[in-house]
Amino acid sequence: MKLLEQIGLAALRQVDPERAHGMALNALNAGLGPRGGPFTTDRLQTTLAGLDLPNPIGLAAGFDKNATALHPLARTGFGFLEVGAATPHPQPGNPKPRLFRLAQDQAAINRFGFNNDGMTAIAQRLARRPAGRVVGLNLGANKDSSDKSADFATVLAHCGPYVDFATVNVSSPNTEKLRDLQGKAALAALLGQVMDARAELTKPIPVFLKIAPDLTTDEIGEVAEVANTSGIDAIIATNTTLDRGGLHGPHKAEAGGLSGQPLFERSTRVLAQLAGLTDLPIVGVGGIGSAAQAYDKIRAGASAVQLYTALVYGGLSLVDDIAKGLDELLVRDGFDNVADAVGSGRNDWL
Ligand code: FNR
Repeated sequence: MKLLEQIGLAALRQVDPERAHGMALNALNAGLGPRGGPFTTDRLQTTLAGLDLPNPIGLAAGFDKNATALHPLARTGFGFLEVGAATPHPQPGNPKPRLFRLAQDQAAINRFGFNNDGMTAIAQRLARRPAGRVVGLNLGANKDSSDKSADFATVLAHCGPYVDFATVNVSSPNTEKLRDLQGKAALAALLGQVMDARAELTKPIPVFLKIAPDLTTDEIGEVAEVANTSGIDAIIATNTTLDRGGLHGPHKAEAGGLSGQPLFERSTRVLAQLAGLTDLPIVGVGGIGSAAQAYDKIRAGASAVQLYTALVYGGLSLVDDIAKGLDELLVRDGFDNVADAVGSGRNDWL
């Protein structure tokens, strides 16, 4: 990590976490982030659901909820970006405080509840997005919506023309009843609606499904069954967990979704299980903070990865470190391309 970045992160840690996040986005927009673009090699270049990526390291949803920092983010090391979640109508989310750092655990707990500017404002920003970088949108449902399932298709229809992929997020723990949409019948109906909305787009885009790490083995099987027949293009595993095992930080009992290091094993096990049940590409997310962990996810079955919480502790220069480190690990193990490593260590996680 660079000295200036270290000082900046130390200063941000003195501030309330949600305010610190806003300040980090402002700093990015003021030109203070990394500007070298994604690190890439022949080994790291890959495709995800038909999208060409310079490297397989992506920004997870929730960091840039309102797509206000896409231009500076496109100059950082990420191979692809996901913004949102966007809901049909703007909504304030849950009362503050709703974001907690667990520094001892290299983790965070959030219960934001899809605070966002709504699809109209977000679509306007996406229409002016930077060229040359793969950008996806995380789709969410309004808290007071009478038909949460329909909200996903509504946002896709409105914002789809401006993004390269869209993610159906039925796995946030912070909107009541949202995770119930992962059940077999509800999920099939919801994805059917989303597929219809995609078919109406002038340029249909790949649709991803993001799942929770708290599903049972049977539930993972059901999700895979629906995903395999629904026409979607990839699965993102996973969102945050409700589990609170092994935490030390003073905020460990806060309600919400836990992310960061303590999520790594749980989310990787779900990913490995899922990889045995589908031929769809999987994006591995949850607790990645190093090249070795990105590589573990890939070897467990991920075609690409995403991260968020580790940036709070390691800064945006971490992305380049992970991309470079991953390239070295591929060389070490004799892989010509990252795609060849996908799933090569899956049995370690079963
Ligand atoms: C998230 N995450 C998230 N996911 C999603 O699908 N839609 C969202 O709006 C959000 N919002 C959000 C806010 C905050 C503050 C955090 C920390 C996380 C989940 C995120 O994309 C990711 O799946 C998890 O955080 C696990 O990855 P990390 O953080 O352990 O790398």
